[in-house]
Amino acid sequence: MPGGAIAARLAGIALIVAGAAATFAYTAGWLTPARLTPDKLVDSLAPPGGAVAGFRRNHAKGICFTGTFEASGAGTALSRAPMFAAGSYPVTGRFNLAGPDPRMADGTGRVRGLGLRIQAPGGQEWRAAMINPPFFPVATPQDFYALQQAGARKDDPNAMKQFAASHPSLREFGAWAASAPFTSSYAEDRFNSLNSFVFTNAQGQDQTVRWSFIPAAAMVAVSPEELKQRDPDFLRKEIVQRVAAAPQKWRLVLTVANPGDHTADPTRVWPEDRRKVDVGTLVVSKVQAEADGNCRDLNFDPTVLPVGMRTSNDPFPAARSAAYAVSYDRRTAEAKDSPRPPTEGKP
Ligand code: HEM
Repeated sequence: MPGGAIAARLAGIALIVAGAAATFAYTAGWLTPARLTPDKLVDSLAPPGGAVAGFRRNHAKGICFTGTFEASGAGTALSRAPMFAAGSYPVTGRFNLAGPDPRMADGTGRVRGLGLRIQAPGGQEWRAAMINPPFFPVATPQDFYALQQAGARKDDPNAMKQFAASHPSLREFGAWAASAPFTSSYAEDRFNSLNSFVFTNAQGQDQTVRWSFIPAAAMVAVSPEELKQRDPDFLRKEIVQRVAAAPQKWRLVLTVANPGDHTADPTRVWPEDRRKVDVGTLVVSKVQAEADGNCRDLNFDPTVLPVGMRTSNDPFPAARSAAYAVSYDRRTAEAKDSPRPPTEGKP
């Protein structure tokens, strides 16, 4: 081969390698330090003393359960997801508290969460992670990051005030947090998707929906002062006893957006009169400690969706998916510190 042709080939190879290196550098955020990356999002959640090794970087305290989703069949009107066909589907889930500290006292957790995986025959899965507030405090992942940064500015007490001044949804969230009743059980909490998703039915019709798991148990409100007096693990102890006595249930209700509703913004509640479809019941039948349970090593990534569901124009699920993957990678790499049964690894 003539020398010129070899040089041209080598230059071509060098170009491909340089292109790949640039792609990696861009993905890692080295070329665009101002860009929000999943690593930055996860770093921003860490408490002042650093993240607790082996645990989720948010919603670190939790407890696993198993049960079933009993589909009535009504959901097939909106989505051809196989777990909406009438029947019973296995569920793995996790009750949890928002925050990065797995040792936090249960009474101090204002935001409670529910992670769910519903499995259908043929390998289809629906994963979701929901919380009890009726709306989210900020409208975009960028604002979520800015909020964490403002909260971390302990040297500047005005940082949070300034953020709230320019973000009315955070002030509304503060009003909810200050006035909404606390329950004394995960079984009495309502868990909301807040983010919207597009459901497609067997006829190929698309609808944008949000959903809520509505508890069958009646709410017994408890004052914040009384909650703080309780055992730091009272929520865990209560749900263990309650489910041992009887399975606990939630109805799954889908809410369908009207044209023009704010589908991309989880701070905006849709009007109360929107179409609602009751599609079945979540039955929690067995609670297990995180150390023994099979939810510890699960990532309740909200973009793991079955056929008949997909993400909408709401920017959160994609950002959450990327951040949960980083958190999952970090905590599973620290497996020696994660919750484990006392006997594991011992002779
Ligand atoms: C950009 C915004 C958000 C970020 C950066 C974020 C970050 C995280 C991270 C890092 C985890 C731990 C994941 C793991 O290690 O498995 C987590 C868990 C969780 N998040 Fe988010 N989150 C965001 C928004 C939301 C929203 C909008 C909701 C609810 C509507 C939510 C509900 C939950 C719940 C319930 C869990 C616990 C799930 C489990 O038990 O594993 N998050 N979040």
